[in-house]
Amino acid sequence: MKPSQHKAEVLEAFKKVSPSLIDVETQETYQTYSERQRNLFRYRLKFPPELFEGRSVIDFGCGTGEFDLVLAEWGAMILGFDFNSDSIDRANSLIAKASVVEDINIEFFVGDIDTFTIVPSSYDIALSLGVLAHVPDQRAMFMRMASSISSGGYLILGFIEDSGLIQRLFHRAIVRATAIQDDAAINTTARRLFGEHIERSVKHGNRSAESVINDYLVNPHYVGVPIQVVDSWAQDLGLKHYSSWPSTELPFAVDSPDQPIVSRMSDPYHTFLSLHRLRWMFANQSDLATFSRLFEGFLPAAGLVEQILDTLCSTLQTGDLNPANLHNQRVLWADLGEELELALEAASSSLISGLGQVSGELLKVLEFLTHGIHHEPDDLSLPVTDYLFKGYNGLGTSYAIWYKP
Ligand SMILES: C[S@@+](CC[C@H](N)C(=O)[O-])C[C@H]1O[C@@H](n2cnc3c(N)ncnc32)[C@H](O)[C@@H]1O
Repeated sequence: MKPSQHKAEVLEAFKKVSPSLIDVETQETYQTYSERQRNLFRYRLKFPPELFEGRSVIDFGCGTGEFDLVLAEWGAMILGFDFNSDSIDRANSLIAKASVVEDINIEFFVGDIDTFTIVPSSYDIALSLGVLAHVPDQRAMFMRMASSISSGGYLILGFIEDSGLIQRLFHRAIVRATAIQDDAAINTTARRLFGEHIERSVKHGNRSAESVINDYLVNPHYVGVPIQVVDSWAQDLGLKHYSSWPSTELPFAVDSPDQPIVSRMSDPYHTFLSLHRLRWMFANQSDLATFSRLFEGFLPAAGLVEQILDTLCSTLQTGDLNPANLHNQRVLWADLGEELELALEAASSSLISGLGQVSGELLKVLEFLTHGIHHEPDDLSLPVTDYLFKGYNGLGTSYAIWYKP
């Protein structure tokens, strides 16, 4: 398909219902929205709002302007553009009404990601949230963002992780397997079959159900990208990874600050990121619940680790090297080995059974789709699933920040 046709189809869908519109019209709704963004940037991305102060920001695909208003509150100077003139109208009216921010420094323009005029190296920060999945040439968009920032600047991207999209891709395949003809029928069927998922997306994304359905079922272009691929674009351009959420840092790292940071292009890192991709797919619980379950079996081992290290350190500190302490250490290390073995066995059997449950259901739905096509929308009933569509959030939105040296 030609890029121009791709874009025309996206624009047509987004003209029907904006994918970005969020109510920030009152002080209360604005504060709730702005607080969420503050938490995301300060605590998860380690990019505190103060870093935006006095910085020039270019927002690729700014949509209806809600986040730009928050950036203005944080003291940034913003240029936002989007190819949907309706969204730009809304963004301008939002700014005109804004009572929350004085001395607003924002300009909005109608423009396309590939052709909007940008003076190279002229911004401190290039930002784009939720746009990459909709453009025909994702790498080209990333490169334009990178070239718009000056040295010492940052590229901030909110993108859809492909494995986090699988739940929605199943929904699309199911809708396509029916005889559905129009948007109204897509809406009715989606609410009937995927109501729980849509409610979750409304809750997490703060948008209307109609907007969610339009975004992923009416709009035909919605393509996720693995973090490894985005990493490789950044690598090619000499950008340095700054932070990401969900965090893709290697766990249990202990290198001293003098050591070079482990390259995200190295084999162990890639292996880790593949597991991370799998986690996106099976992330059907909050982190707290997931880690509580996973680490439960390690509780006795954790107690032993504390005991071993406390006694070992105090023995070495005090110089109390006697046979009783030696014996004690022998016993503790042997116990630790046994406890770790038990905990690892329990964790691996729980992981394998979870994997079996979800993959079994996944194959069942895939089989249904492969053989059970040509349903009337009203007759369609899905295979019963207990795990596959019970995603925690159901949409793999990732955020990542790079630094341009
Ligand atoms: C999901 S919305 C995100 C909007 C905003 N960044 C936000 O976070 O709320 C995606 C936006 O990308 C815009 N978009 C998609 N393709 C585009 C293109 N080729 N040029 C400019 N904007 C585009 C759409 O019009 C839409 O406003």
